Amino acid sequence: MTALDKSRLIGVIGAGAMGAGIAQVAAQAGHIVKLYDNRVGAAAAAIELVEKQLSRLVERKKFTAEQVQKIVSNLQVASSLNDFKETGLVIEAIVENVDVKQSVFSELESICASTCIFASNTSSISITRLAAGMSHPERFVGMHFFNPAPIMKLVEVVSGLVTSPEVAKTIYQTAAEWGKMPVYAASTPGFIVNRVARPFYAESLRMKQEQVADCATLDSLIRDSGGFRMGPFELTDLIGHDVNYAVTCSVFDSYYGDFRFQPSLIQKDLVDAGYLGRKSGEGFYSYHEGATKPEPSILASTNTASVLCVAMGDLGVLSGLVTRLLGAGIGVDVGPVSSHNFLKIGAATLALTDGRMASERANSEQLENLVLIDLALDYQKTTHVALSRAHTTTDQAFQKVVDCLASIGINVSEVEDSPGLVVMRTVAMLANEASDAVLNGVSSVDGVDTAMKYGVNYPKGPLAWADHIGVKYIQKVLNALQHSYGEDRYRASLLIKRLAEQGRNFHE
Ligand code: NAI
Repeated sequence: MTALDKSRLIGVIGAGAMGAGIAQVAAQAGHIVKLYDNRVGAAAAAIELVEKQLSRLVERKKFTAEQVQKIVSNLQVASSLNDFKETGLVIEAIVENVDVKQSVFSELESICASTCIFASNTSSISITRLAAGMSHPERFVGMHFFNPAPIMKLVEVVSGLVTSPEVAKTIYQTAAEWGKMPVYAASTPGFIVNRVARPFYAESLRMKQEQVADCATLDSLIRDSGGFRMGPFELTDLIGHDVNYAVTCSVFDSYYGDFRFQPSLIQKDLVDAGYLGRKSGEGFYSYHEGATKPEPSILASTNTASVLCVAMGDLGVLSGLVTRLLGAGIGVDVGPVSSHNFLKIGAATLALTDGRMASERANSEQLENLVLIDLALDYQKTTHVALSRAHTTTDQAFQKVVDCLASIGINVSEVEDSPGLVVMRTVAMLANEASDAVLNGVSSVDGVDTAMKYGVNYPKGPLAWADHIGVKYIQKVLNALQHSYGEDRYRASLLIKRLAEQGRNFHE
């Protein structure tokens, strides 16, 4: 199956934020696009807005004036659905309501040719359910763009129970032709991105609730240590807590109350208070005039005198830190063969979190002055990292680690002694959800990783990240979280267990 020919007419229904963007994408690819909205004047206004936005890009030399004129001339207002008679593909982006969407598609069936493909941009409604009742449900497919559609690369091509594989392939190829990064997904709640991304918000909300650290510190760690574009608190403030909370509730309900998706009480409180984020002026942060954003809490370095470092055992991903120390001229001796894996810094024992709390690990392994370090996307580049310490760790030993990291340009935030610290816990849970999506046939390993990189700009696909850390290590972190909380929420995906047993990776 190949992409729809550029000569085919495309219909877009709904001229809101998404419909206008999708129409622009198709017009930019060279199709004539008819845009329909049942609000009088909305389609024309949307085309005008597209023209205005594209003209700004002419000033920034992203397009020529001729290109913009061509794109805009490809966009036409449809006065009714009857104008969609000749379309080869209709993409619906109207209000998120099953009955309204179904009645629009049933009207379209009586207007369009039987070969016309019907696609919905729905974020949360089952494609199987929307197709039910249609005379030709096999030509119905999800074509889920991300906001803003002209910029975000990902398109989830979602198949319902009876979607024809040929139809899905045509939409996949068409999205690719339109310059997008398509991935196949099965119609399950949240599809790929809105499901796999849940722990990104959920774990930080829980950490905030348990007072592991304040919002500004957690945001900064997720950004600067984890490499994510935004922290979860600044991001949910931007998305709007009403929207983000509703998506979480919808996924939670759709999975019959699986605790992995449990909504957060502190987010509900914000919604109840009308603290919806940027749009209402208050969220986790304040956006009123004169409000200043709080700074992350960073520990001061007190002494820059060099310190003896000794690497013990296999440091795994933490070996990047050793490379950085050596690069900065700080000597790191190699210690005797050891079953423990850690870096001795002065009197402190610095170890990568394995999901256990520092005090628990210090007790069970009789480790003196244990300091746990959080996961960083790249220890050779990170500017900020979280540490936690055991109850037995002295202030002097802890401070030596802070000073040593500060001397190589890494800011330190101390967080409460909590399982998996901040980034490791988040990444392990993202990988766990991604793994379950693969296990359940929602998408492939590559599909899930691509979706998270291009749909929500994650710095690494969660499964590629799990491979980098070690699938067995991720399993260990999840088991420790489950042990600490005694909750099903942290159960490791069967696929993680299987791969860990087999000594395999997600990406072979
Ligand atoms: P919106 O509210 O900005 O626009 C919806 C448009 O549809 C409005 O202009 C409205 O007048 C029109 N409309 C409503 N009922 C109609 C009908 N029966 N016939 C013709 N036009 C009708 O909504 P938005 O944000 O563009 O979302 C549209 C769809 O895209 C929803 O299904 C949503 O779940 C989905 N979506 C939204 C994303 C977002 O970030 N906003 C991201 C991805 C998907």
